[in-house]
Amino acid sequence: MTRPKIGLVGAGQIGGNLALLATQKQLGDVVLFDIPQAEGLAKGKALDIQQLSTIERCDATLSGTSNYQDLEGADVIIITAGFPRKPGMSREELLGKNLGIMTDVAQNLKKFCPNAFMINIANPLDAMVYALKQITSAPANRVIGMSGILDTARFKSFIAMELGTSMKDVTAFVLGGHGDDMVPITRLTTVGGVPVEELIPAGRLEEIVQRTRKGGAELVGLYKTGSAYFAPAAAAIEMAEAYLGDHKRVLPCAAWCTGEFGINGMYFGVPCIVGAGGIEKILSFELNDKEKAMIETSRASVAKTVAETKL
Ligand code: APR
Repeated sequence: MTRPKIGLVGAGQIGGNLALLATQKQLGDVVLFDIPQAEGLAKGKALDIQQLSTIERCDATLSGTSNYQDLEGADVIIITAGFPRKPGMSREELLGKNLGIMTDVAQNLKKFCPNAFMINIANPLDAMVYALKQITSAPANRVIGMSGILDTARFKSFIAMELGTSMKDVTAFVLGGHGDDMVPITRLTTVGGVPVEELIPAGRLEEIVQRTRKGGAELVGLYKTGSAYFAPAAAAIEMAEAYLGDHKRVLPCAAWCTGEFGINGMYFGVPCIVGAGGIEKILSFELNDKEKAMIETSRASVAKTVAETKL
């Protein structure tokens, strides 16, 4: 059996960390792709990590390229091609710049690796993954957006920091679009099985929810020159790992919804079973009235950006 082939479209900050994690976890051979002007970046990161692999004792072959043909036959593609935010910008403001890039990327993926499991990270997330699916015509179970794992990681980390507990013991998920209206479900959040609503006073918990919603902007404000890259890369690698290993993980992902949580015909953050069949199932459950109202606000935000996504 040959090793899986992992294609990374975009060799910038997130792309480099994806390559590093994929190598350290020995998920397969890695091809870093970028535009011709940044081919050196792709080749350089591939070579640098190849050298690291002797120290970390990982079996993986890495290469860098600006030729889409080198992605032929990829099993997994992760897309980060596009501009990150600058301080003060919303993700939605990236639509104009990043849609043209996604159009080019998606047309090439359709040509060279139409059977790959495609994970999009580029923002505005929910609209970009919609464009990816429309242009590639790939089935919805193989075209997915990375956002919920990252948003949930932010939420979990803030709770563990607040309570001084292990990061491992917080169970939570954040639903909805990858924007300021995302919906952390506090009602179902537990710390070692104990409901978080009984551990943190309501007002303070709401502050944590708000910090989660602005979690990406907080990092943009600190970095100044771009957006987060370590946790976003780890989140997408978790999805790729679940697919390649047929792990049937339950992960919050931006998935194509057909009625779940009242969402129809668009991508939205929902809990999914991820295995060899890609998105094998969306796990739907009853929301309370407050949660329904927050989901509707998030749905309307995503729908507005998707409506502006002219293909
Ligand atoms: N095809 C392929 N790659 C491209 C293209 C294109 N048409 N246009 C730009 N790129 C590359 C850039 O050359 C750059 O190397 O995409 C890479 C993006 O890297 P960074 O600028 O470092 O951005 P990063 O932090 O990795 O974020 C990428 O993910 O989280 C989102 O909002 C973020 O949309 C942004 C994306």
